Amino acid sequence: MKIIVAETSGFCFGVEKAVEKVYAQLGQGPLYTYGPIIHNRSVVEDLESKGVRIIHDLKELGTSPKGTILIRSHGVSKAEMDAMTGSGFRVVDATCPYVKKIHRVVERCSRLGDGVIIAGDENHPEVAGIKGWSAVPVYYATDEGDLDKLPLEEGKEYCIVAQTTFNYEKYQRILKKLQNFPIRVIMNETVCQATEDRQKEAEKLAGMVDKMIVVGGKNSSNTQKLYEICKSRCAQTYHIETIDDLVLNVFSESDIIGITAGASTPKNIIEEVILHVRNATEF
Ligand code: F3S
Repeated sequence: MKIIVAETSGFCFGVEKAVEKVYAQLGQGPLYTYGPIIHNRSVVEDLESKGVRIIHDLKELGTSPKGTILIRSHGVSKAEMDAMTGSGFRVVDATCPYVKKIHRVVERCSRLGDGVIIAGDENHPEVAGIKGWSAVPVYYATDEGDLDKLPLEEGKEYCIVAQTTFNYEKYQRILKKLQNFPIRVIMNETVCQATEDRQKEAEKLAGMVDKMIVVGGKNSSNTQKLYEICKSRCAQTYHIETIDDLVLNVFSESDIIGITAGASTPKNIIEEVILHVRNATEF
């Protein structure tokens, strides 16, 4: 058996920094994260065992003791940010700088009167946060086909941004198709380089191996996208969250197995998966 692990698998820069920041706040009074810090059960459970409480709305704090609220890498809307900073709680902002850049672009363009289009999943917290920096209603596109349904005004200027974990190739197709519309477009390349590199490497790796394992949270959008990309290249692609999800009898001694992982997957989980797969075929 040969196991090839993608170099770009695991924590990205933004997630690593957010996780470091939350651990650095431990022991300094009540600590709340605005949403789970990352889409990884083991990290979230570890933090909860250390007293960190997840909130989804400031109202949940009620009469809770004052402490620190940590904003995760996905970021929040302007209204949420303003409410937090005015709440009397200390705020530690771990929004990824690449997400913050999108907030700034959307805020600036929308204030100038441009329309805003977001390529991404409108239900994803990062996209909800981005929307919350726009001074005008936003439009969403999940693929180039969606553009035909948008009531875009002829001659108007639109600013387009993508969710940082959006599929890079799909975003390029959306940008290309937008050029055929009778509108002016300000195109922003906001798919994160870490995401782009990870997706490209995963696609290449999936095309070289017999079986592919994608490690990451079931509710992690970037992991889900990695899975889709790998599955399109390698029919036997498995998405697992931890080693408990691994069905080991599908692997054989002659297999070449590729492994990649989403941006919120800690290194130790990837290492456990490698060990388990290796052990499973050593009989
Ligand atoms: Fe930031 Fe890119 Fe990660 S936007 S949170 S470094 S995937």
